[in-house]
Amino acid sequence: MFKLGLVALPLVALSSGLAGAAEVPYPAGYRDWHHVKSMVIGPGHGLYEAFGGIHHIYANAQAKAGYASGKFADGAVIVFDLLDTKSADGAIEEAGRKVVGVMHKDSKQYAATGGWGFEGFGAGDPNTRAITQAKAATACFECHLARRENDYVFSAARPWSQAPGNHQRAFETARWPC
Ligand code: HEC
Repeated sequence: MFKLGLVALPLVALSSGLAGAAEVPYPAGYRDWHHVKSMVIGPGHGLYEAFGGIHHIYANAQAKAGYASGKFADGAVIVFDLLDTKSADGAIEEAGRKVVGVMHKDSKQYAATGGWGFEGFGAGDPNTRAITQAKAATACFECHLARRENDYVFSAARPWSQAPGNHQRAFETARWPC
């Protein structure tokens, strides 16, 4: 009995290390985080098929600090909240949620993808993983590689205060790599 227990324990530890630890957590409460920016991608854009709609980018406290310094510490989480749009009478409104894209900084866990774990939660459902770690490199990281010098982050926060002494970097429009 005792012997069996000794053998079983490392097996449990190993399997949870492989399957559980690398999974990017659902970013609970992200709508209360810092709003970085929004963007509408309409028909005619090269990435309309994949990213058409309106997206809002949110950063948790560590990621907000990263936008300011250009270096993102472990624990930084950035959310790409993509919603469909509907247009009427010259107005564009949000419609159903398409995906909640996540970048989660953990330099050890996600060393193979620049220290960022990438995941997409289909329709924003915490239980619907559209990417999984096996596909993160090809589905997400290969494109984000273009921003290596910016810690793989495309967006830049527009200044959230005009006060002198504000150290935010200037707003820049993301240049989509297509
Ligand atoms: C074809 C290129 C491309 C692919 C593929 C791609 N992204 Fe991005 N991603 C971008 C661009 C460009 C932005 C900046 C958008 C903006 O400024 O509004 C961005 C922004 C983001 C952000 C906000 C942080 C940042 O870098 O600005 C997250 C989070 C994100 N993407 C997650 C993902 C995930 C998860 C995947 C895989 C499912 C993915 N991305 C695939 C190009 C890409």
